[in-house]
Amino acid sequence: MSGEATLKNLIEVCNLEFSYSDKVSEYRVLKDINLNIQKGEFVTVLGPNGCGKSTLVRHLNGLLLPTAGSVKVNGFLTNDEISLSTIRRSVGMVFQNPDTQLFASVVEEDVAFGVENMCLPRADIKIRVEKALASMGLTEYRYHPPHRLSGGQKQKTAIAGILAMEPECIVLDEPTSMLDPKSRAEVMKAIRELNLNHGITVIYVTHDTSEALCFDRLIALNSGEIVFDGTPKKFFSKPEYPARAGIIVPPIIELVERLTVHGVALPPDIKSPEELVDAICQLNSEM
Ligand SMILES: Nc1ncnc2c1ncn2[C@@H]1O[C@H](COP(=O)(O)OP(=O)(O)OP(=O)(O)O)[C@@H](O)[C@H]1O
Ligand SMILES: [Mg+2]
Repeated sequence: MSGEATLKNLIEVCNLEFSYSDKVSEYRVLKDINLNIQKGEFVTVLGPNGCGKSTLVRHLNGLLLPTAGSVKVNGFLTNDEISLSTIRRSVGMVFQNPDTQLFASVVEEDVAFGVENMCLPRADIKIRVEKALASMGLTEYRYHPPHRLSGGQKQKTAIAGILAMEPECIVLDEPTSMLDPKSRAEVMKAIRELNLNHGITVIYVTHDTSEALCFDRLIALNSGEIVFDGTPKKFFSKPEYPARAGIIVPPIIELVERLTVHGVALPPDIKSPEELVDAICQLNSEM
């Protein structure tokens, strides 16, 4: 983020409660959630299966509406019907399964699908689609049928479709959970670049702790409540925080901790096996 002076609340969640109800029962999934997301933040929402992650993020562009409390985007209430289209232009949503998000016969048409409904001049649509394709590294695949792409390329096509609508914020609900490791890394890199190079606010749901380490801010949910809100480094610094969230500490963090206890002078903030290997090679070359 570029500094405190430029911070501004994009999303404000206030005393949010949500229940899925049918005719016979009511099940309270979110309990008194309070949360502000500022422009330009790079945030992950982490928590075990069924804790309410998807339910929470679906409130952020009005796909679900609060049972009690409120959600505001740029000051507009999501339960104010007149504001919904403005809110959905500000906050785009990418889901888990890329196959359910692609409709057209070629990549370029798919990327243009959302922006074509925004009543913009043809030339502007073309420019936006070009930009979105380029920022996801998909220009060379523009005439390919989406079903012939890899999982990572499909998910990047879905993200490009949202980008073409030029949102301020992208919410991604476990976008890499159906992808192989190479595609996962590609998608993560592309998302980080969107945040760093284009200032797009990112809210990224996962239950993968290794992915969560890459974010600036980590919000942990358990049983519909926020049980931690801070940096990933702080979250994994004390066993009580992951325990409260029902999360197992990533092996890389445990390994670095044990090596440090045994006197290996490693730098702080090692997040991946590759970074650990580099750090150990560095130590060897200094000996
Ligand atoms: N449409 C629905 N109707 C009734 N209950 C639902 C519905 N969708 C989700 N739930 C329930 O609400 C709770 C929270 O679900 P949610 O999908 O938000 O969890 P999650 O943290 O995203 O889980 P996962 O990690 O598996 O994606 C779960 O107990 C789930 O069974
Ligand atoms: Mg979910």
